Amino acid sequence: MTKLSVRDVRKSFTGKSGRTDVLGGLTFDIRDGDFVSIIGPSGCGKSTVFNIIAGLLEPDSGSLVYEGALVEGLRGRVGYMMQKDLLLPWRTVLDNVVLGLELRGVPRKIAVEEAREHLSTYGLAGFEDSYPQALSGGMRQRVALIRTLIVNPDLLLLDEPFSALDYQTRLYLEGVLMEAVENFRKTVVLVTHDIDEAVALSKRVIVLSGRPAGVKAIYDIELAERTPIGARSDPRFAGYFHALCGELDIQTKRGEAA
Ligand SMILES: Nc1ncnc2c1ncn2[C@@H]1O[C@H](COP(=O)(O)OP(=O)(O)O)[C@@H](O)[C@H]1O
Ligand SMILES: [Mg+2]
Repeated sequence: MTKLSVRDVRKSFTGKSGRTDVLGGLTFDIRDGDFVSIIGPSGCGKSTVFNIIAGLLEPDSGSLVYEGALVEGLRGRVGYMMQKDLLLPWRTVLDNVVLGLELRGVPRKIAVEEAREHLSTYGLAGFEDSYPQALSGGMRQRVALIRTLIVNPDLLLLDEPFSALDYQTRLYLEGVLMEAVENFRKTVVLVTHDIDEAVALSKRVIVLSGRPAGVKAIYDIELAERTPIGARSDPRFAGYFHALCGELDIQTKRGEAA
């Protein structure tokens, strides 16, 4: 079943230097239970698409259809983890996690209980009263992920959640994400500039063209295992990686990607 259709969405921004056409008629579908990664050149409009889906930004034209109904945006109905870790520095880890629930009117006592449970599940028991600046980058992203998951949204939008982390921490958090997604049957759309991450985690990868962005290609990824290391060890992994480097025109000194 199709969960979300993005249909012919266009968006331009007008600034001092004139008009920039960012999205040039973008169309794609997200299925129920999908794990889709969106990759594309930097600045092509990936975060802009997310802002439109999340209802923070209006498209100039085009439409969104969610579970069969035309919607303006999915404000309050999606879990949106933005590109920058937006933990509030003046709130403790516990209070950052509680925030999402509070905004939905969950009584504080229940919210705190749930937050403690989640923090413990994700290995952060004992850090409830710490402030974000005292944590490592990986732990901060884990808190941001918990805050996104705890409100139990059925569609998750993750904008480069792991891009600032070292490789080992990234593999670890990819595993945490995959486990959560499978346990709670979430539908996920992930923006990443990491081709390797897109292939390892996704059922499908959507490649966007440069500005104005449109869909350049869609790949179905079929790997035996979808764990961070298992996927990367699959003999088919390299083929997808190579093909996607070609789509993005990534070339290396020692030879062309495609
Ligand atoms: N609110 C805004 N006002 C003006 N220009 C914007 C705004 N948001 C994004 N842009 C511009 O739109 C383009 C796409 O941005 P973005 O969606 O952030 O790209 P990506 O996430 O793919 O790197 C960039 O040129 C950016 O400068
Ligand atoms: Mg972006």
